[in-house]
Amino acid sequence: MEKFMAWIDARFPATKMWEDHLSKYYAPKNFNFFYFFGSLALLVLVNQILTGIWLTMSFTPSAEEAFASVEYIMRDVEYGWIIRYLHSTGASAFFVVVYLHMFRGLLYGSYQKPRELVWIFGMLIYLCLMAEAFMGYLLPWGQMSYWGAQVIISLFGAIPVIGDDLTQWIRGDYLISGITLNRFFALHVIALPIVLLGLVVLHILALHEVGSNNPDGVDIKKNKDANGVPVDGIAFHPYYTVKDIVGVVVFLFVFCAVVFFFPEMGGYFLEKPNFEQANPFKTPEHIAPVWYFTPYYAILRAVPDKLLGVIAMGAAIAILFVLPWLDRSPVKSMRYKGWMSKVWLVIFCISFVILGVLGVLAPTPGRTLLSQICTALYFAYFILMPFYTRMEKTKPVPERVTG
Ligand code: HEM
Repeated sequence: MEKFMAWIDARFPATKMWEDHLSKYYAPKNFNFFYFFGSLALLVLVNQILTGIWLTMSFTPSAEEAFASVEYIMRDVEYGWIIRYLHSTGASAFFVVVYLHMFRGLLYGSYQKPRELVWIFGMLIYLCLMAEAFMGYLLPWGQMSYWGAQVIISLFGAIPVIGDDLTQWIRGDYLISGITLNRFFALHVIALPIVLLGLVVLHILALHEVGSNNPDGVDIKKNKDANGVPVDGIAFHPYYTVKDIVGVVVFLFVFCAVVFFFPEMGGYFLEKPNFEQANPFKTPEHIAPVWYFTPYYAILRAVPDKLLGVIAMGAAIAILFVLPWLDRSPVKSMRYKGWMSKVWLVIFCISFVILGVLGVLAPTPGRTLLSQICTALYFAYFILMPFYTRMEKTKPVPERVTG
């Protein structure tokens, strides 16, 4: 074995990569619950790719056959039902895990210097994931697939001058048709997954270049022992590989419970109108995107003007990219920030959840007002951040990690 590895290492940096990224990558010893979600996102990514490959084997990407081919997968293909439910539940699980992963970033200031690029790559992953989910949703060619895509694509029509041509270019037709389905299929199964995988590699390389942050926001590289190993660090392998397996097991319990007992999740994971084939002549009574898009959909509807609504929706995502430069606090972790940062984070999270709920419901004047208030609070969290993070009194950060 030793000889074999020496032969490999003389030709390929296998041992070096193993050491750099696992056995000699020193991570802070105080990781908590919120640090499980990066590895879980990787797990879900692998699940989506594997189940996706097997779904592709039996799916037919044409307007005439797509809907029936999904029914065929569910009823006739051996274990087709579980492959599909793993994939559809995996899509929602991806967003649950990624939202918690991003929340951890907000909580512990993981986007701050020197991790700005880790955050930017993360945001690009998030954008790519949204595009991936949106395109995948058209494929089963149900009523909500069709009309959801209709609503979202028509948003591009609000752009002055090029709007109409742009929507036509995206659809490849005068209306959403088999041509649209075909190109979304190509993008969903090959183009975007390649980009996604590439971005995940860049995300982790950028993280390993600077090292992980931790719940205290203390830089562990400042305190090293005689061998140059951070005193508050532990080797990723075996310590965190084993710890992450615990997270994986707990996650799989919950995930499998959903897959086996609640795959539709009351219409939130698989929407009811999608059990009916797409019909361009019959608009569903109420069109709502899947739950993970609803906060942005509520922001879109909160603004009375269509173009301004589209701009607000785009800005709501774009502003997250510049977060590392909005936070002027001298400390990273919420543990040592002042009360204003804490209050604003709570306001932001509550507004985001309320927007998510409002995005599912049909609009009424009261709900529109509430969505306008929450939209204002959503943006205020970011726009006021340079001020409250500088004004507030922070607590002293310890030299070494705590607990
Ligand atoms: C496919 C999706 C993603 C995967 C597979 C992924 C994977 C990972 C992994 C394995 C880690 C190290 C372990 C951990 O800290 O939990 C990590 C860290 C991090 N990720 Fe992601 N990530 C994804 C999406 C995102 C997104 C959308 C963002 C934010 C926009 C983000 C921001 C970060 C940050 C800031 C860190 C460093 C955290 C720290 O050191 O405290 N990631 N990611």
